[in-house]
Amino acid sequence: MDRRKQIETLEKNHILPQEELAALIVGAKPEDDAYLFARARAVRERVYGKAVYMRGLIEFTNYCKNDCYYCGIRRSAPHAERYRLSEEEILDCCEVGYGLGFRTFVLQGGEDLYFTDERMVSIVTQIRARWPDCALTLSVGERARGSYEALFAAGANRYLLRHETADEAHYARLHPGELSLEHRKRCLWDLKEIGYQVGCGFMVGSPGQTAACLAEDLQFIHELKPHMVGIGPFVPQCDTPFAGEAQGSLELTLRLLGIIRLMEPCVLLPATTALGTIHPHGREKGILAGANVVMPNLSPQTVRKKYMLYDNKICTGDEAAECVDCLRQRIASIGYELSGSRGDYVN
Ligand code: 5AD
Ligand code: FES
Repeated sequence: MDRRKQIETLEKNHILPQEELAALIVGAKPEDDAYLFARARAVRERVYGKAVYMRGLIEFTNYCKNDCYYCGIRRSAPHAERYRLSEEEILDCCEVGYGLGFRTFVLQGGEDLYFTDERMVSIVTQIRARWPDCALTLSVGERARGSYEALFAAGANRYLLRHETADEAHYARLHPGELSLEHRKRCLWDLKEIGYQVGCGFMVGSPGQTAACLAEDLQFIHELKPHMVGIGPFVPQCDTPFAGEAQGSLELTLRLLGIIRLMEPCVLLPATTALGTIHPHGREKGILAGANVVMPNLSPQTVRKKYMLYDNKICTGDEAAECVDCLRQRIASIGYELSGSRGDYVN
């Protein structure tokens, strides 16, 4: 199949055979990508119009019991300065965010054993009571099914858990043996069954990743049918075993955003901070390739530099209000509109 035919088939059937997917991922010419992005924008505008939804990200702990080879807050990162926000500090972030127009909060952290079910349920319950009109997303890694159920019952609505790679051998290249792809997928299916709006995702250009790995990621997305997909380029972090590896490419990340939009027309797809980190207009380019979400940081300025998953992360010195204004202008400059609504998944 030629590329245009592949893109049209993808738009119509929402999937291609594995080999066709792998072929679509590599070796595109700029005009092929331009066509892909135009189709992706058309699909996204049919479902969500020109709205770009904002989510307030609260990075509430950088303690983590895991040791993923790529991540700057892995347990054995020697220079990570560890912090935890108190319940009160987390609620203060929501308060500030609500005033700035946020109607979705994302609580993200490492897998920190301090945040037991009891502590998490208390935080979720209070946010739910004080801001009943807001969506609450959790991104706190792998937990027991009973824990996911308790948090859902307390009022959490959405859950982000990137699968990182759907290829077994590649998963083992990125993670120590105590972590498994099988368990990661089990968590995602559990979350979906419980009733969360679920987000999976992966890094583009992580060490050892091939076009076949990416085709498997797309196949997994097609099976799981998540409500959200978080993808961004891999960016090396100086304290990790992958410090000397190359970063993921802008072009490939954008192409995958476009492909995912055609596969899942209704998916909520962020133009990530990592994308904004590798190119000054990375997030705008992401939106023009099919993304429709941005996630500015609501964490207190004092901790932002400590949540360094990768090097050179943007917006670590800015006030939340500055980021919102900056994003609003950036989004307007490409003809889209920053939306303060909850931005739920449309079916
Ligand atoms: N580069 C890019 N993304 C990273 N993440 C972790 N480390 C890196 C890195 N070095 C991503 C992972 C994780 C999410 C919170 O951040 O995909 O799921
Ligand atoms: Fe943070 Fe531009 S979005 S400064």
